[in-house]
Amino acid sequence: MADKIRVMIPEEEVDQRIKEMAEAISRDYEGKQVHLICVLKGGVFFMCELAKRITVPVSMDFMSVSSYGSETKSSGVIKIIKDLDEPLGGKDVLVVEDIIDSGRTLSYLLEMLKDRKPASMKLCTLLDKPDRRVTDVHVDYTGFVIPDEFVIGYGLDYDQLYRNLPYIGVVETEE
Ligand code: IMP
Ligand code: MG
Repeated sequence: MADKIRVMIPEEEVDQRIKEMAEAISRDYEGKQVHLICVLKGGVFFMCELAKRITVPVSMDFMSVSSYGSETKSSGVIKIIKDLDEPLGGKDVLVVEDIIDSGRTLSYLLEMLKDRKPASMKLCTLLDKPDRRVTDVHVDYTGFVIPDEFVIGYGLDYDQLYRNLPYIGVVETEE
């Protein structure tokens, strides 16, 4: 049976917020070039929408990581599945994520990327679930702070499905 989905953040609101974030980023990076790093696969829809609206020069790279540990609890130790194509030395890097949950994956990843000596490094996330945080992560740009619910859409999956939904939703499970 098809899952029932409740809309948490409608498409228009997500699009409007991404537009505002792109404006803030364009202002902050005035006179510079921003190097966007997408954490696959979840960050891809958000990064594309964001990149289209940024007015300073943009370059992009992609990486894919997986966390060791159980499916539901990230251990914080990550394995690189696909590394970046370009070195980061001297670049103004903006890491683009779909969601920050426990923060374990991100804090490990950011430490690793810092060793590659970018000129600067900031973090941008579409969603933040601060109630679930176990590791401190400094987020520079946040789209929406959401309650502790498992969300899908706009790149986020449930068993690899629903990434293509143009809004943020919650799968309602039958009791
Ligand atoms: P963490 O911050 O290390 O716990 O891991 C964050 C990652 O877990 C995100 O990049 C997502 O891939 C995944 N994740 C966390 N919460 C959700 C959710 O509500 N829906 C879908 N994926 C999630
Ligand atoms: Mg992710």
